[in-house]
Amino acid sequence: MAGKIPRSFIDDLLVRVDIVDLIDSFVPLKKSGGSYVARCPFHEEKTPSFAVTRSKQLYHCFGCGVGGNAISFLMDYSHLNFVEAVEDLADFAGLEVPREAGSIQPKKHNAVEIFQVLEQAAGFYVAQLRDNEAAKPAVEYLKSRGLSGEIAREFQLGFAPNDWGLVKQFSKQQLIDAGFPVSQNGNVYDRFRGRVVFPIRDRRGRVLGFGGRVLDDSLPKYLNSPETDIFHKNREVYGLYELLTKNAKPERIVVVEGYMDVIALAQFGLGYAVATLGTATSKDHLELLFRFSSEIVLCFDGDKAGKAASWRAVEAALPCLRDGRQVKIMELPDGVDPDDLVRAQGLEGFEQCVLAAQTLSDYFFQRLTQNLNLSDMEGRASLVEKARGYLQKIPGGIFQELMLAKLKELAKVDKLDFLENPTTLESLRYKQKREDVKLSPARVAVSLLLQNPGLIGVLERRELNWSELTMPGMDLLKKIVEIITKHPNISLPRLVEHFRGQKEERYIGVMMNHDFFISGDELKEEFLGAIDRLISQGKEIRLDGLIAKERASGLTESEQKELLRMLAGRK
Ligand code: UTP
Ligand code: MN
Repeated sequence: MAGKIPRSFIDDLLVRVDIVDLIDSFVPLKKSGGSYVARCPFHEEKTPSFAVTRSKQLYHCFGCGVGGNAISFLMDYSHLNFVEAVEDLADFAGLEVPREAGSIQPKKHNAVEIFQVLEQAAGFYVAQLRDNEAAKPAVEYLKSRGLSGEIAREFQLGFAPNDWGLVKQFSKQQLIDAGFPVSQNGNVYDRFRGRVVFPIRDRRGRVLGFGGRVLDDSLPKYLNSPETDIFHKNREVYGLYELLTKNAKPERIVVVEGYMDVIALAQFGLGYAVATLGTATSKDHLELLFRFSSEIVLCFDGDKAGKAASWRAVEAALPCLRDGRQVKIMELPDGVDPDDLVRAQGLEGFEQCVLAAQTLSDYFFQRLTQNLNLSDMEGRASLVEKARGYLQKIPGGIFQELMLAKLKELAKVDKLDFLENPTTLESLRYKQKREDVKLSPARVAVSLLLQNPGLIGVLERRELNWSELTMPGMDLLKKIVEIITKHPNISLPRLVEHFRGQKEERYIGVMMNHDFFISGDELKEEFLGAIDRLISQGKEIRLDGLIAKERASGLTESEQKELLRMLAGRK
């Protein structure tokens, strides 16, 4: 079981990784003034309002308000929990995550442990296929499907024998966490018994679960691991690890429906196919694939179900279609799957079909106009009505405009302006600047100090009596002061890390991104000004309190002296 990740490692990691490089590897950034911008990956927008600042090591979207450091980015973008995000970030920096000895948390669902169980299970299945006499029919089956030993090794194909050899190796809880089923009489069993087993790996090569195929025509043809704490079918595709091993930046990725399709294509030399896991193609699938390639070709079966799947995938793809990304649709004849096609036509024939795939725009309008009569006005109006929602989903850019132009042409109308007016980053900043006025001195102080921990030195110029300062926000300011005092030279991302999971986290998120549009000495003055206003606010509150007490119950001698001093000082 893994121990806690030491805080010092997280601090170190945040210093080593440049957030600009990190985010750029997911969302291509463009330099704009002092920061780097892109269209926000967290909401749909037409013009970039997502900014990454190298000096602060933070990102912030002026449109939807998300923001944070490198770890928050990975948590949000890759849907990871905190520990996973740290692991990913460490990966990015080429570092190993150390674990504190001793601090073992007996968590019920331990991802590391699940991975170990699955890894061991995958090894077991492979060994069975290779060595077990009982696996002969499975070997014969794979041969009959034309698979070579080499390709079976590459995809780590295995065989699940009809015995209890696997489940004996683990505890019941381990097996359940890893996705093995429990029978009616309470025993965990191996659902893949008697099947050829396909391990499903994530992009880092970790086994997440399995698919298993029968050796004959019996049903169900395939069984699959269920979703577990680590296996999310909407976010994983089969074959991505094997693909990336061969080519980390493929020109295109072909998405097919079946395990066997991926493997057959790979054996024929087409190493850039992946399969969805018996689920519809989701936006997350596509975003995942777009990280590695700018073109995705959907290659689903030609039957009714396959056609419906194509259209759904296209719908899911629309919000992902930033300029420079392309989705194409390769329709297969009914009853033919990619496995059949590549065997019939060979690699070259198949690749010709891939290159001839229909563009999304063609496919889209063809599909929408299918049952409409565009020669009458009603038909054309109906087309505009149907297309509107879809076009609005496409991120703003040239592609969206071209789609709109095509719609106008088909509908024979000159003017259609249901796409949002572009907003510029400048106009958003301006809007935010106008709202600055509302900031209380406590907020100004918190925000400035967060963003410029070095300002702590300025506090020496004033005598602060924290117990007198009871305004909202002062507890937080005090906490921040304490952290900075304890860790001089702390950076903003590390400072922010101290508040993860705390009640202040959200507020910190807002405050750290507040833009003051000032620098250098101006910052010091602004900060000192806020502190002075806080001190005088504190005094007013104290004064009011003393006066109220005087009226209600009278003051002690020392309180009376204090009141007199304060009243004198006010003059
Ligand atoms: P297909 O029925 O198209 O199978 O299912 P296939 O890939 O052509 O398989 P072969 O060639 O007969 O071996 C496509 C995918 O749908 C899921 C699997 O992920 C499969 O790869 N599926 C299919 C199941 O999960 N269960 C099933 O019973 C059938
Ligand atoms: Mn098939």
